[in-house]
Amino acid sequence: MSKDKTILRALAGETLPTPPIWMMRQAGRYLPEYKATRAEAGDFLSLCYNPELAAEVTFQPIRRYGFDAAILFADILLIPQALGADLWFVTGEGPRLSTITTQAEVDALKPVEAIHDTLSPIYETVKILSNGLPDETTLIGFAGAPWTVATYMIAGQGTPDQGPAHALKAENRPVFDALVKRITEATVLYLSEQIKAGAEVVKLFDSWAGSLQGADFEDYSLKPMQQITAALKALHPDVPVIAFPRGAGERYVGAHAAIGADCVAIDDGVTAEWAAQNVQTAGCVQGNLKSSHMVSGGDALVSETRRIVDALSNGPHIFNLGHGITPDADPENVQLMIDTVRGG
Ligand code: CP3
Repeated sequence: MSKDKTILRALAGETLPTPPIWMMRQAGRYLPEYKATRAEAGDFLSLCYNPELAAEVTFQPIRRYGFDAAILFADILLIPQALGADLWFVTGEGPRLSTITTQAEVDALKPVEAIHDTLSPIYETVKILSNGLPDETTLIGFAGAPWTVATYMIAGQGTPDQGPAHALKAENRPVFDALVKRITEATVLYLSEQIKAGAEVVKLFDSWAGSLQGADFEDYSLKPMQQITAALKALHPDVPVIAFPRGAGERYVGAHAAIGADCVAIDDGVTAEWAAQNVQTAGCVQGNLKSSHMVSGGDALVSETRRIVDALSNGPHIFNLGHGITPDADPENVQLMIDTVRGG
């Protein structure tokens, strides 16, 4: 492990005097240079599958801000596409997919080994990044967690309450389980290939974990992430895993152990003080500044940033937002956040 990679040191459990920092969606529409490259690529998916341009947008926030980690530019919905679902993005609305709700539709998905036919440009992007990033910058690969990916595959789009996925789970559990299993297996292959191409850390985004209650949270958020983590650790024992069961609330307690992850990313629904007492005791914590501070800035941004840094200063911490930065954010507020974290 490079001594200079502060992200890897924090993930190994080290308490650093200044937490390393990166930001979810750090390559995104709040940056004029992102919008220019995206226009050059055509549409969002063309950008994801163009290794040179996807690497370029990944480098942009590193050049501008010197974040301690770069996250591969891609999307969690490339896995459904690689398994054979149709995928497109409607401007201003979000993703659309062909839906999967029957056993016949699950059976018609491609075998998991076939995902590489579609995803090989992503591995190429990882290679370009691995060769081109500064020595001190850690490269993070990622995938969606199975529950979150399944919610999009079942509904064919984003939904406020993940209703169609909950309905399938209630009405036809074997089909739902078969779909989750297929996504879980594909995700292991996908992340393992990202690691072989040069990803030094992988992150699992379970953006809709918060809508699972009781045993469902254990069975469909924690368990698939645990299975993926265990399979990856068997293949790549030294590669840290970050799990993001967004919306877990008090269920963040015990998440490290339940998933076997090196770091748990927390959203802005819990306080940093609570996380220090209840989550950081088990390992590295990432988070949890409210993204809206990147829009509003000012004294509140500075004081909230300082509060989070102070609250989590007695254990391993990676500073991040609680969720992705939004397109209406001001790039100068990102600089203010970084200066506050690094300068005190
Ligand atoms: O964080 C990063 O910088 C890495 C790249 C990344 C993207 N999406 C790029 C993207 C990552 C890690 C994701 C994850 C992702 N994608 C999640 C999980 C994290 C989360 O935000 O909860 C989800 C649910 C998706 C699915 C998805 N992709 C949606 C719902 C949308 C549309 C919403 C929107 O913001 O427009 C996307 C599009 C998307 N993915 C964009 C980016 C930069 C915007 C695309 C554009 O340029 O128009």
